[in-house]
Amino acid sequence: MKFLGKPRSQTAASLPLCLLLLKILQPGHGRLYSNRYAGDKVIRLIPSSEQEAYTLKKICRQLKVDLWQPSSVSHISEGTVTDVHVPQNGSRALLAFLQEADILHKILIEDLQKALEQGSSLRPPRNRRSLSEYNYEVYHSLEEIQNWMQHLNNTHSGLIHMFSIGKSYEGRPLFVLKLGRRSRAYKNAVWIDCGIHAREWIGPAFCQWFVKEALLTYKSDPTMRKMMNHLYFYIMPVFNVDGYHFSWTNDRFWRKTRSRNSRFHCRGVDANRNWKVKWCDEGASMHPCDDTYCGPFPESEPEVKAVANFLRKHRKHIKAYLSFHAYAQMLLYPYSYKYATIPNFSCVESAAYKAVNALRSVYGVRYRYGPASSTLYVSSGSSMDWAYKTGIPYTFAFELRDTGHFGFLLPEMLIQPTCTETMLAVKNITMHLLRKCP
Ligand SMILES: *[C@@H]1O[C@H](CO)[C@@H](O)[C@H](O)[C@H]1NC(C)=O
Ligand SMILES: *[C@@H]1O[C@H](CO)[C@@H](O)[C@H](O)[C@H]1NC(C)=O
Ligand SMILES: *[C@@H]1O[C@H](CO)[C@@H](O)[C@H](O)[C@H]1NC(C)=O
Ligand SMILES: *[C@@H]1O[C@H](CO)[C@@H](O)[C@H](O)[C@H]1NC(C)=O
Ligand SMILES: [Zn+2]
Repeated sequence: MKFLGKPRSQTAASLPLCLLLLKILQPGHGRLYSNRYAGDKVIRLIPSSEQEAYTLKKICRQLKVDLWQPSSVSHISEGTVTDVHVPQNGSRALLAFLQEADILHKILIEDLQKALEQGSSLRPPRNRRSLSEYNYEVYHSLEEIQNWMQHLNNTHSGLIHMFSIGKSYEGRPLFVLKLGRRSRAYKNAVWIDCGIHAREWIGPAFCQWFVKEALLTYKSDPTMRKMMNHLYFYIMPVFNVDGYHFSWTNDRFWRKTRSRNSRFHCRGVDANRNWKVKWCDEGASMHPCDDTYCGPFPESEPEVKAVANFLRKHRKHIKAYLSFHAYAQMLLYPYSYKYATIPNFSCVESAAYKAVNALRSVYGVRYRYGPASSTLYVSSGSSMDWAYKTGIPYTFAFELRDTGHFGFLLPEMLIQPTCTETMLAVKNITMHLLRKCP
């Protein structure tokens, strides 16, 4: 069990080292991501009329901004909170335009490069010597996560089995952990995936946290024991392995997969628009250079196809599908692709209501909840809708912290509180499920 947590005292002891690291990160010492975000800004805009929304869309397309929220320019409309990452050379033009047009706005991040380096210089130093003091309060690279999975597979074979469900576009294995006490009796299962979108790093951190909590507490916590005894959990800590890797090595704000396109230079498909449910309709783009590109055909992405195949094969015993995203602080359920309520809506709705209340009870953090279409926006071809249509009765998508203050750069200091509160929500949904509502 040593592997599962680090003693608190160590965090304090490592503070002087942090300061040392800060020194090392001074200019000139190999800037992160080759300094490519120097002077970039993240700006929040809220159009107050459809006319303003229209002009905003136009300028966002012109300046080729990296949209943080919503995911597509087409969703910008009156009252939509819109966070844009503008490159350094475009931010002056955008700010001048906003001033002139009198559009409500606020600078969320003044210098993205600085924000990024600040976040990583405050992190506790990694322990590279041994896996025995694994730190769950830092973001881990793909290689680190895969080594961690392998290690757990070797040391906790009673509760964990690691297997691969296929290969990514770039040939990386797609690993899944099967978690739960092995039993001859029939057991239902819960599927959990994290990291469909590469830049949402808090997702994979949560998946790791969930596994750690399960292993650490299943003997002492009756709820966790029940979960491990009565269910299996299939956990895929990094769904979009190629994209996640790319977000560590090249572009921190990469979202899509990394597949090539024969006619355009742009790479990647939105792995949450590539599923065969109202594929490439509203809220998805047919253009390969867009962040919500649906792909050339449904399940074109090997990562999506592998998970879809697995869920199809096991749909009889998988009772819940949970997918972890960021950021917005929302708990969403179907439908995503249309404004309509699902059959037996009240059951799923009450599960969501209880889950967000359980979450809020920890630090008072509020989540909105409801059908994805009316709570977030309409998007077709999502994994959640597909899982629901395939026969999994409880399907949810979490949009974790925050609501835009740090956005995708959620500091590592917030991993612990975010994961702690989210654990309660997930446990609550799971227990609801065991009670067989309705
Ligand atoms: C900003 O710089 C990029 C690459 O350096 C260039 O492609 C783009 O056209 C520039 N944008 C503006 C508004 O000058
Ligand atoms: C996990 O461990 C089992 C043995 O307990 C082994 O058969 C399996 O190949 C391991 N999985 C991976 C992906 O290495
Ligand atoms: C809705 O609930 C009823 C039982 O109350 C059940 O028979 C039916 O299969 C459920 N439908 C769906 C789509 O889950
Ligand atoms: C789920 O959360 C509700 C509060 O929203 C609480 O009353 C209930 O006890 C929780 N159930 C479990 C099993 O944690
Ligand atoms: Zn996402």
